Amino acid sequence: MPSTVLVGAQWGDEGKGKITDLIAKDYDYVVRYQGGNNAGHTVVHAGKTLALHLMPSGVMYEHAVPVIGNGVVVDPGVLVTEMAMLSAEGIDCSKLKISCDAHVIMPYHKDLDGADEKRLGSNQIGTTKRGIGPCYQDKAARKGIRVQDLLDEKIFRLKVETALAQKNPILEKIYNIHTYTVDEICEEYLPYAKILKPYMDETAQLLNEALAQGKNILFEGAQGTLLDIDHGTYPYVTSSSCCAGGAATGTGVGPVAISKVLGIQKAYVTRVGGGPFPTEQRSAEEGAEAEEAEVGDTLCSVGHEYGVTTGRRRRCGWFDAVIARYAAQVNGLTDIALTKLDVLSAFDTIKVCVAYECEGTRYEYFPMQQSVLFHAKPIYEELPGWKGEDISGCRSFDELPKNTQHYVEYLEGLAGVPMSIISVGPDHDQTIMRGWSSC
Ligand code: GDP
Ligand code: IMO
Ligand code: MG
Repeated sequence: MPSTVLVGAQWGDEGKGKITDLIAKDYDYVVRYQGGNNAGHTVVHAGKTLALHLMPSGVMYEHAVPVIGNGVVVDPGVLVTEMAMLSAEGIDCSKLKISCDAHVIMPYHKDLDGADEKRLGSNQIGTTKRGIGPCYQDKAARKGIRVQDLLDEKIFRLKVETALAQKNPILEKIYNIHTYTVDEICEEYLPYAKILKPYMDETAQLLNEALAQGKNILFEGAQGTLLDIDHGTYPYVTSSSCCAGGAATGTGVGPVAISKVLGIQKAYVTRVGGGPFPTEQRSAEEGAEAEEAEVGDTLCSVGHEYGVTTGRRRRCGWFDAVIARYAAQVNGLTDIALTKLDVLSAFDTIKVCVAYECEGTRYEYFPMQQSVLFHAKPIYEELPGWKGEDISGCRSFDELPKNTQHYVEYLEGLAGVPMSIISVGPDHDQTIMRGWSSC
């Protein structure tokens, strides 16, 4: 049956929340498969702007069942707060299902995340400090605490005791920060267990039964291709499988159930945190010449490029076709949703990176060695812009200015994948459907 993976095709914040909300009406289940509350997905729906961190963005539709899959790491306090926020907004969360196999972010994970970043100094990743990396570390080391462990106080206490026997000496002796007692963690977490118990489920079975009954599933990725633990710009990545393949392992649904992979790409690129970013337009403080700084500042201010989770200014740069081609390959993209095209109305001309150059070699595809990416110089084509033309009211491709149409067709040719959705504003309705169908 038709199932779709919606995946970030750059370094996150591509507008996944908007597009998930837009297409979720065609799906019976909307499922998060990886990441945790490091994600910040903005949904503007029926006049309301909501920032979602753990709840799948399909929650706005009454008919859709939101599911948090086994590949997600759950901070129960954040989830309980988010559910209360949504309920206060009149959004029904009662259908939520949480995988019993998902791992739980513990207080010491957050402390270790912050402390380890401090230790790395100028080499820090720039994490969201939400405990994501340390929680996935425990999962891979087979020392994690899972959602199902919250169901039995005795088991939970025992697991916390075992964990603290390892974590407390690390917190104290390596990082010189405070330690925890079993009682204080239980006091905080067991009340969450009580609230979340009715939502816990065997979600792999639930989803497979749904597929057998002909239901549609939308898998909502968090972060993006270049933040993927395997395919991203390691070590400047998150700790989960953001790419489309993660949807299978992160939910327990076989890959043959997936018929479409929709990559979300901004009409330019942004990144939060450290790591290589060939088309970055730095600020004046970072040593950029006036022209570069102006482009970076304009993208940031017109695109409101500040993080939903941490409020940090996002690094901004021109569209990078090398990345687009790479994302198309490693995710098997069948479609692209191009977002924030309206932001480019601020420019006379628009640059597009078509390849990289490093030490005399031209790279059309992602270089094998990360060191090349750090030193790569973008090779740009400069396209005419549509400065001053407000395209946010356009609802069909033909209504767009000729130069805008040309820009989209040019990117489409470079990426090699149809751009079947075009977003021209944050609102649900500010969208041009250009051949997208859920099946
Ligand atoms: P996500 O993490 O991929 O869901 O993206 P974020 O929500 O973190 O960041 C995308 C931001 O761009 C949000 O503030 C959206 O409301 C906004 N947005 C999405 N699509 C568009 C668009 O086409 N144009 C404009 N101007 N803003 C958009
Ligand atoms: P959404 O889903 C953009 C980045 C962090 C940091 C790196 C590792 O909203 O697109 P982590 O806390 O995950 O260990 O941080 O990944 N990062 C994101 N950047 N959007 C996100 O999520 C991100 N989630 C994590 O800034 O560089
Ligand atoms: Mg985001």
